[in-house]
Amino acid sequence: MAIALVSPLAAILFAAVLAFWGLKSPAGSLCLKSSPIRNVAFTPHQVPLDCQSTCPGGAHSDPGNRLSKAEARYRGQVHGPESLAFDPSGCGPYASIADGRVMRRRCDLAAQDDATWRTGSGSGWDDGARVDDVWETFALTSADRNASCGSGSGWEDVCGRPLGIRFNKRTGDLYIADAYKGLQKVGPQGGVAETLLTEVEGQPMMFTNDLDIDSDGFVYLTDSSDKYRRRQYMLELAEAGPYGRLIKYDPSSGVAQVLMRGLRFANGVSLSRDESYLLVCETTVSRIHRFWLKGAKAGTSEVFAHLPGYPDNIRRGRIAATSGVVDDNGNSMASEGGDFFWVAIHTRRMAFISWLQRQPWLRTALLSLSVQVPVKKTALILGLDGDGNVVEVLEDVNGRRVTTISEVEERVIYEKQGDERSIQRRELWLGSVINDYIGVYTL
Ligand SMILES: *[C@@H]1O[C@H](CO)[C@@H](O)[C@H](O)[C@H]1NC(C)=O
Repeated sequence: MAIALVSPLAAILFAAVLAFWGLKSPAGSLCLKSSPIRNVAFTPHQVPLDCQSTCPGGAHSDPGNRLSKAEARYRGQVHGPESLAFDPSGCGPYASIADGRVMRRRCDLAAQDDATWRTGSGSGWDDGARVDDVWETFALTSADRNASCGSGSGWEDVCGRPLGIRFNKRTGDLYIADAYKGLQKVGPQGGVAETLLTEVEGQPMMFTNDLDIDSDGFVYLTDSSDKYRRRQYMLELAEAGPYGRLIKYDPSSGVAQVLMRGLRFANGVSLSRDESYLLVCETTVSRIHRFWLKGAKAGTSEVFAHLPGYPDNIRRGRIAATSGVVDDNGNSMASEGGDFFWVAIHTRRMAFISWLQRQPWLRTALLSLSVQVPVKKTALILGLDGDGNVVEVLEDVNGRRVTTISEVEERVIYEKQGDERSIQRRELWLGSVINDYIGVYTL
């Protein structure tokens, strides 16, 4: 009862304080004019936090602060590399970037580039690429691009904004989830991507986000919102509406169906190793769902994990970093079934955001005043086993070297000694939708 009484009062005080800040800040004088919800039918929802007080917040830390030892590579050469992928021959990474292109680290220079970074020549960890022109354009998600592309998110619907990318390992085709252009595909030679899907069950996809491909070629993808576009992602988070969908696309018939709906910011997707289930991140509610594809529970879903922050993409890891127990293919044997997933956390959950999520009207007030909630920049990635347990945590608490990670792509480098193949090193390539570099951490 005390909480019920205190909450509205605290909310009013809090709103007053923030409004005061907002109006006093240098940009404050413009705030009232530039409210992001001025021309939007903003209808905030209560967020059903099913874990409430037990939702992990500060839990799961990395005492070694290991990501502060990551390298920030290619600074200034790749803007907003949200998603990273290596092709079936191991070349890459390919990176989906902010101006509508998918870039590729040149295969002919990759070995040389790796060697330079490994030996650490140069003045430090952080002085950009040491090999010239290591990146080349691989694919475009829009045929209509022009000189405006890359000059801000306002042009994204013209230029495209590729987010999740994955190779179909059998065909070598690269599948692209472009936030504005929908599901796309481009052949191994690259070029302008072909659009495969822009609506499902009669409803347009407004914010296509991520995808995975099974061994039969079916594509599983997310549409984060059927209301807001990517550049309005803050509104999508603030409104917290059940607008996201998990979708299955059949490449032979071109038909798609909705597998899950009502997700609050559907984001990263990943199949399990045996393809019996699919994980889908629900960013606003900081959790992951498991959708069963095979077995007795096929067609149903359950909550797989509650997270200490807001998840972006999820990718299968081949190795559990601590256990180091792997099968012949380098797959983790950390848990029964051997599943291991890397989840990139955009930002840590803050108690005060969770509280704000239960105050819809206050969110409207804050947005009307253009008050920005300060968020601590940090880097946090989690390794989850096949039961949803967090078994690995890596972070750069103060975001000194890397921040705001969107995706973790694990790359295993093997060494051949006679007939034996052993693991020489394991690298985590770290994408980010906002940074202008790619992080690399060697486990
Ligand atoms: C690029 O295309 C858009 C849409 O057609 C147009 O509004 C914009 O002015 C163009 N930019 C340039 C630099 O031509």
